[in-house]
Amino acid sequence: MQTKILSALKEADDYLSGEALSEQLGITRSAVWKHINKLKSEGYNIDSVRNRGYKLTALPDLLDSDRIAKALDGYTIARPLVILKTVDSTNEELKRRAQQGAAEGLVVASEEQTAGKGRFGRQWCGGRDGGLYFSLLLRPDLPPSDIASITLAAGYAVCLAVREFTGLPAQIKWPNDIIIGRKKLCGILTEMAAQSDKVDYVIVGIGINVNNETFPEVIADKATSLALEAGHTWDRSDFLSCVLRILNKVLSNFFISLSMEDVEHFNSLCATIGREVTVQRNGQTITGTAVTVSATGELIIRTSEGRELTVSSGEVTVQGIY
Ligand code: BTN
Repeated sequence: MQTKILSALKEADDYLSGEALSEQLGITRSAVWKHINKLKSEGYNIDSVRNRGYKLTALPDLLDSDRIAKALDGYTIARPLVILKTVDSTNEELKRRAQQGAAEGLVVASEEQTAGKGRFGRQWCGGRDGGLYFSLLLRPDLPPSDIASITLAAGYAVCLAVREFTGLPAQIKWPNDIIIGRKKLCGILTEMAAQSDKVDYVIVGIGINVNNETFPEVIADKATSLALEAGHTWDRSDFLSCVLRILNKVLSNFFISLSMEDVEHFNSLCATIGREVTVQRNGQTITGTAVTVSATGELIIRTSEGRELTVSSGEVTVQGIY
């Protein structure tokens, strides 16, 4: 019924009265009113004026699965692409589908997450706020120890996509944040299931602030969005197509072998390199200067005593960023 109301509103040149809608669709005026409210809650801008009726003034900024699928014709990822209105977490949804045997390449995106997850058990905001939330399912033939570098490859792909799509100077904060200036634009949460030395599945969950205008107070000075950086909003469907296209390319190269050129390019986009960093590892705080990211994705740091240390995980604070 909602679709019918929407079509009627789209076809109308002017206000459409509740009475006309109720006659046309064979439902009561109060049912019309309830459906209109539901459409409003989904982001449709509908003007209601007494004695005139309803007028659709703006469509919501919703992901368009047909358009994205068309743009990705022939690619191995986002086959299929599932777009949900709401979900607890796209990572959790993909986990459930992976456990039921979903094949590699499945991408689940959602307009909203009610329990979005960040790294280190943190939350990831997931309201209908212009953000992009999606997860990719992979079933790589790799040992669990190699999985961290998939996250790096995904971050690299998002960074390239932001640069190509918007021209904004996105950079990587090792291992897997994408930043613009000193603020975070994107976070990646990779989760996996493995049995002894064999990976069953890997879920790469990506959250990108696209059209967000504000952030909760606790992260307001650390977070940014493409819209805030550019001063205008972006088409989220076209941007998601771009991210998935580049992700497809980077991951297919990655599974063949990462070239020296890729590693050098990654390093040139990595804001961490050359800065003072503090790493929390096994309850220890290590401070030094970030020297490079190796071909296998580890961060090499030089301590003030001149020792070189290889860091493969843990939380890194970069001086001047966050
Ligand atoms: C981070 O802490 O920086 C990682 C954030 C990852 C958020 C994304 S949003 C899509 C996917 N689903 C989740 O619940 N989390 C990831």
